[in-house]
Amino acid sequence: MHRKLVAANWKMHGSNALTATLLGTLAAQPPACEVAVFPPFPYLAQAVHLARGAVGIGAQDLSAHAQGAYTGEVSGAMLHEIGARWVLVGHSERRQYHHENDALIAAKLQRAMECGLTPVLCVGETLDERERGITESVIATQMQAPLHLLGERFAGVVMAYEPVWAIGTGRTASAVQAQAVHAFMRSQLAAHDAKLSRLIRLLYGGSVKAANAPELFAQPDIDGGLVGGASLLAEEFLAICAAAH
Ligand code: PGA
Repeated sequence: MHRKLVAANWKMHGSNALTATLLGTLAAQPPACEVAVFPPFPYLAQAVHLARGAVGIGAQDLSAHAQGAYTGEVSGAMLHEIGARWVLVGHSERRQYHHENDALIAAKLQRAMECGLTPVLCVGETLDERERGITESVIATQMQAPLHLLGERFAGVVMAYEPVWAIGTGRTASAVQAQAVHAFMRSQLAAHDAKLSRLIRLLYGGSVKAANAPELFAQPDIDGGLVGGASLLAEEFLAICAAAH
């Protein structure tokens, strides 16, 4: 059994005050599970400082490039230098609004690992894809380029299954639906390399709340959660972490 991991994706929310409140609470009452918090770029250094090592801090994206003339981009080396140790890669909002494709996402994963960051690779189907019955082939395709590019190094990746139709909608995948996709992801990993399916933690994301976390986290192939909206509420987030044991 893996140690459970609960990740907080703040998206484009927050302020200095909210960072102080949320990280202050987590540092004062460190949850028993592993926790990684992903604030927007401007709050990362403050978050690293306030976390005092009690929780990990990560960015929501990184550049696929090492350095250079890429206005607006942030490199993995910069993130590592300021104390970030995690990074989200391939979140559906980046796939949708920034047209990130599987090849770019694989390149970002590789860059993250070269920079000493643990990437959380997000995959998931849209409502239309689920209704057309192609969830598994969509997930398999999203996993293919990263697995191929990283090979054995994929063992250092954490994965998150986030059905797009469940993100920010209040519509959570049922524990049975989530478990079924997680089991499929594990079988895909096993088909590539038996070791990988044992080593890799698989998080569920999409409207995770204190009320549904216990049932989701009790599933055999769910090793924690990637939490958006509910991670901005200190008490709610602590309650979600408490469900991960
Ligand atoms: P949500 O977001 O918990 O607000 O649905 C999850 C995510 O997008 O990571």
